[in-house]
Amino acid sequence: MVIGFSQCTMIDEWRQAMVEDMKREITFYRDLDIELIIKDAGDNNDKQIADINDLVSKGIDLLIVSPNEAEPLTPTVERVFDGGIPVIIVDRKINSTKYTAFIGADNLAIGKEAGYFAEELLKGKGKVLEITGLKGSTPAKERSAGFHEIVDKLPNINTVKVIEGAWLESKTLRLTDSLFRIFNDFNLIFAHNDFMANAASKSARKYNIKPYIVGVDGMNSPTGGVSMVINGFIDGTVFYPSGGDKAIQLAIQILAGKPYEKNIDLSTYRIDNTNARTLWLQGQQLKDQQDKIDKQSDQLNLMTDALKKRRTLLLLTYTTIILLVLIVSLILRSWRHKNKMNKILDEKNKTIIKQNEIITKQRDDSLDLLIVAEEARENKLRLFTDLSHELRTVVTLIISPIQDILNLVHDESVRKKILVLQRSTERLARLTDGILKFRSIENNKYHLTFFSGNIAQFITNIIETFHEQAEKKNIKLKSEIEDEIYAEFDVGVIEKVMYNLLSNAIKFSNRPGIITISLKSENSKIAITVKDCGIGIPKNELPFIFNRFYKINNKNNTSGNENIGIGLALSKELIQLHGGKITVESVETRGTSFTFTIPQFHKKPDSKTNNNQITDLSFDFSRKTDKNKTVLVVEDNSDLLMVITDILSKFYNVISANNGKEGLDVASRRLPDLILSDILMPVMDGMKMCIEIKENPLTCHIPVILLTAIDSEENMIKGFDIGADAYITKPFNEYLLLSNIKSLIESREKMQQFFCPSPYFRELLQTKDISEGGFIKDCLNHIYENLENENYTLENLSKNMNMSRSSLYRKIIEVTKLRPVDFIKKAKLNYAAKLILSNETWNINEISWRSGFSDAKYFSKCFYNEFRINPSQFSKEYLKAKNITLNN
Ligand code: FRU
Repeated sequence: MVIGFSQCTMIDEWRQAMVEDMKREITFYRDLDIELIIKDAGDNNDKQIADINDLVSKGIDLLIVSPNEAEPLTPTVERVFDGGIPVIIVDRKINSTKYTAFIGADNLAIGKEAGYFAEELLKGKGKVLEITGLKGSTPAKERSAGFHEIVDKLPNINTVKVIEGAWLESKTLRLTDSLFRIFNDFNLIFAHNDFMANAASKSARKYNIKPYIVGVDGMNSPTGGVSMVINGFIDGTVFYPSGGDKAIQLAIQILAGKPYEKNIDLSTYRIDNTNARTLWLQGQQLKDQQDKIDKQSDQLNLMTDALKKRRTLLLLTYTTIILLVLIVSLILRSWRHKNKMNKILDEKNKTIIKQNEIITKQRDDSLDLLIVAEEARENKLRLFTDLSHELRTVVTLIISPIQDILNLVHDESVRKKILVLQRSTERLARLTDGILKFRSIENNKYHLTFFSGNIAQFITNIIETFHEQAEKKNIKLKSEIEDEIYAEFDVGVIEKVMYNLLSNAIKFSNRPGIITISLKSENSKIAITVKDCGIGIPKNELPFIFNRFYKINNKNNTSGNENIGIGLALSKELIQLHGGKITVESVETRGTSFTFTIPQFHKKPDSKTNNNQITDLSFDFSRKTDKNKTVLVVEDNSDLLMVITDILSKFYNVISANNGKEGLDVASRRLPDLILSDILMPVMDGMKMCIEIKENPLTCHIPVILLTAIDSEENMIKGFDIGADAYITKPFNEYLLLSNIKSLIESREKMQQFFCPSPYFRELLQTKDISEGGFIKDCLNHIYENLENENYTLENLSKNMNMSRSSLYRKIIEVTKLRPVDFIKKAKLNYAAKLILSNETWNINEISWRSGFSDAKYFSKCFYNEFRINPSQFSKEYLKAKNITLNN
């Protein structure tokens, strides 16, 4: 409920008390939730009109108004009333009956009571001054009317002066102060309220006049009318209640729709020196009680607030409890659900674990079986391999004598039989080789070595070697291969596969016939096809032909050639190892075509490295006249010597020897760039020769290739142990042999400065002709043979050289442009450098005395002067260079 109260003024205590009464009354109706909006018009009509409108616009349920003046306020109050808002008028009235109720004391009666009081005080005779309230306000009019109704009847009482104090003490004081200065002949002052009466009393005392003073209001407060009477400031007053509490009671009644009286008269009475003190005391008692009520009310307020808080808290607690209960029930539900699900999952888990156990057991069983099978297979293969090794040895032992016997026998019929024997043995050798290769692949011991080179040229060369064999069978080999296609490939692998495919093709081709070999490079892949026009392979046999030892059933095979073997199976494995694949297409009676594809390159393209490798490693077969390099071939078999000389002489200057001893001799005299030697030879075998070559400081730098028919790992390891640089088995591939020779000479050239470390000697030996070169080498040999002799001089050398001292002196100066003593020193230092290079573990002291220097310090100094590097640094540099060269 919103109650608006428009108060005409709040300037005085009476008005303030009225508002206080209203507020207190409202506290008794807490449950109704009443809001009281108070507006103070400040004795201004316009302001009060605006206040009322404002209150209405705020949506008040009821208006209480105490109008400043009746006339100006009447229309506004009527409008509110007409608008349906109940209006209670208090204290002052309007000029209309359009209001809901009026509450206030009867001002006419108050005026009359004042009249009677004046009559009594004046005892029927005297002059009266009337001080009125605001003339437009109804209490002023009614109080005046009531007063005059009484005193005007009395003949000896005259109202001599009427002034308008307008309810205000301040205004009245100004008026009485000025009035009393010029006129103060009156016996009684009737002021319409106590405030104005107090002002008159003050002025009277100022001018020392003592008229009776009667006021209205009679407020029981320290400055109110009751106190004024007790203090003797005024003589009496008429009680005028504000009716604030009653106005609220009435408003609540109206808003509650309860019956009410339209005009409520509040009672009034006279206060003078007979009852003022009693009233004061009663008032004090009332005040005490009021204070108690206020305190209780405050306490009640506090308690109500506390109660409210408690209620809120309780509500919160209830809500929390309800929520908790809900949550707990939810948790319980989900827990139950989870338990249920867990049980189901447990069951499922159990089943899965059981299944797992079964599967694991089955897997373990299968694994065991597999292991057993693998072990059995491994044992079988090991046995097979061992047998193959044995067979290979036996076959090797058979092959050599067969060739020897063939050379000796001239009877054609016997030769034919021996040839059959030779072919069969060769086939047996190939089969055992194949098995051993398989084992290497299976044991991951087969390592590919990629060469960058012209694969087209390489394949063409292989085809060349088959021309004769093909021609004999009236078969033409047709090559569809471009001149130059570069690739990275393992020479051994490609060679083996090509040999296998070509020999098969020749074996199974019809005669006369054509075998077409083509090579294509596409999408970084090389595809090589060997196509024959032979008997073909039955379609149902095709899936199995790459199986080891699979025997192809072919009714068309009337050639008598055995079609069982491991050639194709080995080819397949090798090509797979090379990162490629091999496929076959065949039409019976028309021919078979094998194609193998390999990646063109095996490393990421690196233009620099690739180009280098291509130029470094590809063998230039077109080179015919480069004969600066000398190759010594040591071979006891004159035919083979002839064949090898034939191959090599196209590119190198070839010199030869018939056995190891001869080889040693030629090597130390001619210092060839490379030695190619057979192993098995009369007088001194290749291995022994190799050891001696490598032990002689003069020849140790010469690369040695051992060439032999004995293809055993053991021999190969032995060959490398004694210092051989390469090992090639017979029958050798021309390309492979030439490639090896070329790369060894080239790498040795790079290393030459280390093997003949002194640039002086290198140059000397290169520029001098054979006889002078021989002279220098002879000198060097003698010096080296006598290194332990620290005092080896020209004298000793001349004896060794079988020359007179003077002629040797001249000859040395002529050939070397050096004094003999310097020549000998240079020779010793060159030897020292060779020693450092040949044995990396020797220390400088050892090197020093081994090369004929008694003082290591002196040796180091001479060494530095000769090579511009000290001996230990030299050793390190060599190791570095060696690593680089070997890795290349
Ligand atoms: C207060 C007052 C009272 C008087 C009443 C008349 O403002 O002047 O003293 O009795 O108003 O309305």
